[in-house]
Amino acid sequence: MQIELQTPSAQTRIQRLKALTDATHERLDKRIMAADPFASRERYALFLAVQHHFHADVDPLFTDPRLNRLVPDLPSRVRLEALWQDIADVTGSEPPVLTAGTGGLTIPAALGWLYVAEGSNLGAAFLLKQAARLGLSEEFGARHLAGHPAGRGLHWRTFVAAFNGFDMSEAEEADMAEGAKAAFRRVHALVDEFFV
Ligand code: HEM
Repeated sequence: MQIELQTPSAQTRIQRLKALTDATHERLDKRIMAADPFASRERYALFLAVQHHFHADVDPLFTDPRLNRLVPDLPSRVRLEALWQDIADVTGSEPPVLTAGTGGLTIPAALGWLYVAEGSNLGAAFLLKQAARLGLSEEFGARHLAGHPAGRGLHWRTFVAAFNGFDMSEAEEADMAEGAKAAFRRVHALVDEFFV
């Protein structure tokens, strides 16, 4: 009998990153669903506030020239403006002006934050279906959960291909994983703050 063992080096970089953040993603996923953000538009507005803070944090990364040299098509991935519109749609008020809390990240750590922001768009397909039950859609209130016009899957694959192609040392990869974990922790803290 042959037993196949998958060693860490047999994995791609993005698979390693996923494996290192799976537990924190699952904790966050459970925490969000337990907060019942799709029970009403009022609760969904709290979810929008969480997303707004997180996307304000990552927003400067999408225009950072150092990151744009590494990841294709970064500016088209930004979701902050869609969030502003969603907040205006759902609450009838303009969103507050927020400043990013991610200044001074190293490039690998910034890539970890970007991974979390981009990956969250995969799970967003599921969230968009839940939002539809509140009468919200890609055109009203749930714009930031829409897939990219080129297609959610294709867009993710080009992102993954870029990540897997970087020339990175082990130390830089560890720094990237720490960045991704910090991003998940930030979102978890925001959920705790808004859904008390
Ligand atoms: C209740 C909330 C959430 C649910 C149900 C959920 C669900 C999912 C699902 C089903 C996938 C896999 C999609 C696929 O492989 O096609 C996924 C991927 C991912 N999600 Fe979430 N998610 C949630 C919230 C979040 C949040 C808030 C973040 C970060 C801010 C996040 C970050 C990610 C990342 C980084 C991936 C990509 C993992 C990889 O393949 O490398 N998710 N999510």
